[in-house]
Amino acid sequence: MPVHVIDHPVAQDALVTLRDQRTAPDEFRRAARRISAVIVGEALRGIPTTAVTVQTPLEPAAGHRLAGDVVVVPVLRAGLGMLDAALELVPSARVGYLGLQRDETTAIASQYYAKLPADMNESFVLLVDPMLATGGSSVAALERLTKAGARHVRIACIVAAPEGIAVVEAAHPDVHIYTPVIDRALTPHKFILPGLGDFGDRLYGTA
Ligand code: PRP
Ligand code: URA
Repeated sequence: MPVHVIDHPVAQDALVTLRDQRTAPDEFRRAARRISAVIVGEALRGIPTTAVTVQTPLEPAAGHRLAGDVVVVPVLRAGLGMLDAALELVPSARVGYLGLQRDETTAIASQYYAKLPADMNESFVLLVDPMLATGGSSVAALERLTKAGARHVRIACIVAAPEGIAVVEAAHPDVHIYTPVIDRALTPHKFILPGLGDFGDRLYGTA
């Protein structure tokens, strides 16, 4: 199954902070950056590198540099909370934006914005969206990325629901999902249980 559960103590610590309803937006943003660094680091395993040699003050040392094009695509708005961490890890990455909004009654996502880099056919594309609930937003994003030519896409999220994973897997069985946790279920209004509430609202203090 292409789901990778990241059982890292730093990620688990940050996750508790994000879940805690007392966490204010400033601390929420810091925890989002911290957990994203761990998740994105794992999701980037296996990206192309090239062998190099550098001169240390003592002698030559062999190593590897990132090679190839990396594109990070945050889903607005909540995905912005994961972007800075991804760019810390891959400063040369190109960034595409997809704006998707769930309808408050039906929870069906519709696209209101898209700005994607050109020529993504050979790129390593990382879709970052913290909440994988019904999977509707991720599937819509994957379809938009596929239409734009992306062929190597992974998803990094912070909380995933079993329903959302199943929906993404059914539509895109080749896409790997990286998450620190698979939560229990969805509420009738399609919020994740236990989850952490509305990620975008908590990130930006708009609740
Ligand atoms: C949230 C979240 C995901 C989506 C997940 O976005 O950021 O994009 O819900 O739910 P799904 O798997 O059921 O589609 P939301 O629509 O609340 O927008 P926001 O990020 O602008 O707050
Ligand atoms: N989006 C969120 O922000 N939280 C959820 O629980 C589900 C979707």
